[in-house]
Amino acid sequence: MELNIKLDRQGKKPLFLQIAEQIVNDINLGVIKQGTRLPAERKLAKSLSVNRSTVINAYNELTDRGYVQSHIGSGTTVTNVDIETEKEDIFVWRDLLSGQAESLINPYNSALKELLSERNLIAMDAGIADPDHYPKKALADISQELLLSEGNMLLQHGSPQGLLSLRESIVSIMKSRGIHSQVENVIVLNGSQQGLDLVSRILLEPGDSIILEEPSFLGAIDVFRTYGVRLVAIPTDGEGMVIDYLEKAIKRTKPKFIYTIPTYHNPTGLSLSSTRRKELLKIANRNHVPILEDDPYGLICFDNQPFPALKALDSTESVIYLSTFSKVIANGIRLGWMVAPPELTRIVVAAKQINDMHSGNFIQRMIDVYYRKGFFEQQILDIRGKYKLKRDTMLKALAKYAPEGMSWNTPQGGYFVWATLPDGLSAIKVLEEAVHNKVAFVAGPVFYLNDNGLRKIRLNYSYVSLEDINRGIKILCNLIESMKKKFTKNRVLEKEYLPIV
Ligand SMILES: Cc1ncc(COP(=O)(O)O)c(C=O)c1O
Repeated sequence: MELNIKLDRQGKKPLFLQIAEQIVNDINLGVIKQGTRLPAERKLAKSLSVNRSTVINAYNELTDRGYVQSHIGSGTTVTNVDIETEKEDIFVWRDLLSGQAESLINPYNSALKELLSERNLIAMDAGIADPDHYPKKALADISQELLLSEGNMLLQHGSPQGLLSLRESIVSIMKSRGIHSQVENVIVLNGSQQGLDLVSRILLEPGDSIILEEPSFLGAIDVFRTYGVRLVAIPTDGEGMVIDYLEKAIKRTKPKFIYTIPTYHNPTGLSLSSTRRKELLKIANRNHVPILEDDPYGLICFDNQPFPALKALDSTESVIYLSTFSKVIANGIRLGWMVAPPELTRIVVAAKQINDMHSGNFIQRMIDVYYRKGFFEQQILDIRGKYKLKRDTMLKALAKYAPEGMSWNTPQGGYFVWATLPDGLSAIKVLEEAVHNKVAFVAGPVFYLNDNGLRKIRLNYSYVSLEDINRGIKILCNLIESMKKKFTKNRVLEKEYLPIV
């Protein structure tokens, strides 16, 4: 067999390596096939005008790399032509994924994110605070001060339950929600989202049921789904969860817990009425079902004080309470907390430790000092005023531009207006058109369990500027008006819903 090898005798690469690499290349290209016998060392050395030892070294290199085998008497033969290709094949993980991993991806959610990934939009889809109100200066000053004075402690590991001084501050914050908690039962979290997961982890088994109001927070639905549980939806009206359905549903499905966002709900912006709060607790207690209360927006009230949290009315330690600094300060700081029933605290802390050891000391202490210096109280007052103005601007724009047949609610706090499109329109289709017109919102179906909410849309006012709220609502309403004209009554789009891909 003749080998086509060209040597660069002036080059830096040793001749034996040049020979070996060109043979490897020809093997990989299939020019030299498996089983081929390479030229005898002496013969190849002669044809290349190199020393025999150079060829011996080249063949040794090929042997080391697994490309050839040498046997006395039968010379040097090519062993495995696929070696290089195998090395470069991308590992296939798909078949190894757990059942839980598969359920982590909500195709609806991903499709929506892709659609909304185009920025430059008037982003009424966001569920986040206005960056103009991030307290950058105060946090910058506090962080510098803290790093210099307490840096050694703050950059160390900390308690899985959270920094004691921050837990004291949280106990104090909780009083404004009517909750009298103890530091022993407060657990600092990396966002209340982590709390949803930890509670699920310690309470749920695959096949369990949980009850939640519908619509509900997408992030919670996603967590619960990964635990393989059955989600039982209770409808809502203008006063929140319709409690009349609750007891029957409990008896029928024996839920592990009831998940609810009773105050300035995401996505509806509504609050569970005072009477229903009491009924909910009564029914839950009577049936020995605990409640997971998610309260990220409770401090952001506008016209009146919010109803006290369910946890404030809980005399039997059956409510697990979650809240967060995300909505008042900034989502990116990833700090939330749980007020846990005493019996659960130890196990939640253990789950948190397994999950991520602990939340960062530095950010915890920063927020603690931010609270202790009075900035937090001031921030709440500021954003209440600012977000109320934004809510009013959105409501005014809707009143001015919305076509007939469209309706919406008036949230008393929180981040969202929840609107219903005129008959025959699909929120998904309106969203697609809206994005082309540089306006975004969240289409209702993502907040439901079974393709409901087809005419619902969630409009966020916290993130966008006053000017953009006005402009965005005008564009959106004009669009809805023109889409409405195109559809006749007998084209019922409710059946036409398709996930966006
Ligand atoms: C109802 C609800 N629960 C929990 C969260 C998660 O908040 P955090 O940023 O604290 O994880 C959100 C955030 O949008 C929410 O709306």
